[in-house]
Amino acid sequence: MKTGKTSVYDCSIIELDKHHSDAGNITVIENQDTIPFEVNRVYYLYDIPGGQERGGHAHKELRQLLVAASGSFDVVLNDGSVKRTVTLNRPYQGLLVVPGIWRELNDFSSGSVCLVLASHKYDEADYMRSYEDFLEYKRQFLN
Ligand code: TYD
Repeated sequence: MKTGKTSVYDCSIIELDKHHSDAGNITVIENQDTIPFEVNRVYYLYDIPGGQERGGHAHKELRQLLVAASGSFDVVLNDGSVKRTVTLNRPYQGLLVVPGIWRELNDFSSGSVCLVLASHKYDEADYMRSYEDFLEYKRQFLN
């Protein structure tokens, strides 16, 4: 699907594999098997101050899987027409965020960790950081 045409409903929760034991739990993510893209970068957000908002941008090509590896936070997805808020609070669930979606992360619980698996290496040129530019970009793809 063309990046400009993506909607918030193309973003979905993926149930990750989990192994419970008395010794604790483990969740495994493997390329192709678990998520619909090849992982080329992993990063994580942590030590996020209370009340802080992260994100506030969209990507042209990048696909990501967001996981609340610890704690919880909200992801506000916005395709220019529809806004949808997804709360992540389970380490065995990932939110697939497709390209062309404005996202904001907020309401981080104390000590939370947002793990991000990404389809491409860091490329500032792939970012849309201006909301006005994002809306203009999406408008081009209407109809
Ligand atoms: P950014 O993606 O804007 O963070 P967030 O969406 O969580 O608010 O990245 C914040 C800064 O970190 C930005 O100046 C660039 C840098 N950065 C890298 O150098 N490499 C990366 O892979 C990422 C994700 C960010």
